[in-house]
Amino acid sequence: MSFPWSLTCYDTLGSTSDFCKLQAENGASNGTAVLAFRQSAGRGTRGRVWAAPEGNLSFSFLCRYPRRDALMQVLPFIIALSAHEALTCVLPDAPLRLKWPNDIICHDAKLCGVLIESGGSAEDAWIVVGIGANLQSAPVIEGRKTVSVAALGGVAAPEPLARSILDQFSLWLSRWERGGFEPIRTAWLDRAHARVPGLRFRGGRTILRVSSQGSI
Ligand code: BTN
Repeated sequence: MSFPWSLTCYDTLGSTSDFCKLQAENGASNGTAVLAFRQSAGRGTRGRVWAAPEGNLSFSFLCRYPRRDALMQVLPFIIALSAHEALTCVLPDAPLRLKWPNDIICHDAKLCGVLIESGGSAEDAWIVVGIGANLQSAPVIEGRKTVSVAALGGVAAPEPLARSILDQFSLWLSRWERGGFEPIRTAWLDRAHARVPGLRFRGGRTILRVSSQGSI
């Protein structure tokens, strides 16, 4: 299924995910994407605050997908791979790794985080994916090391990076639609951080108990 991306950029929003969810509830179409150059009330996973100063990437997009439950199972992997690919283009020499299920880290420090939310009725279901990446600066997260693209020697602007992630998302989604979960699982494992819970090394290969449907 193709996503007709339509990205709108705003100077400041509270949270791009809150804004996108509101648009979803008001009937916005699949592929609606929203970027804010500044977020004043960014949200992370588990109710945490996500600091998103100017220069960093804050964007969210809406998926309306006929098989929402099937997509929800594999989405963390597809998003992680999409963001990883796009960030690797601006940091070709940095050892970027995926930390379960969809953080992107470099030398143990967090570079990018993802918030996936879903709602709506059975006939009108939506998924909103929010992605935040430290491009210019690395805000403090309690108990975590953080890093930015700039600190790693790269240069990236929010809008081109958002477009690159959306392009990658279309690619990885179609790989899943054509080949099922196996190519996604393999690609995720190839890029995985060694210390993800459930991830073990066996004979030099990383093994993660991810089922063929995408669940652990
Ligand atoms: C995490 O805690 O790792 C997830 C962070 C997700 C942050 C992004 S920034 C764009 C979107 N809008 C939000 O309020 N949160 C997400």
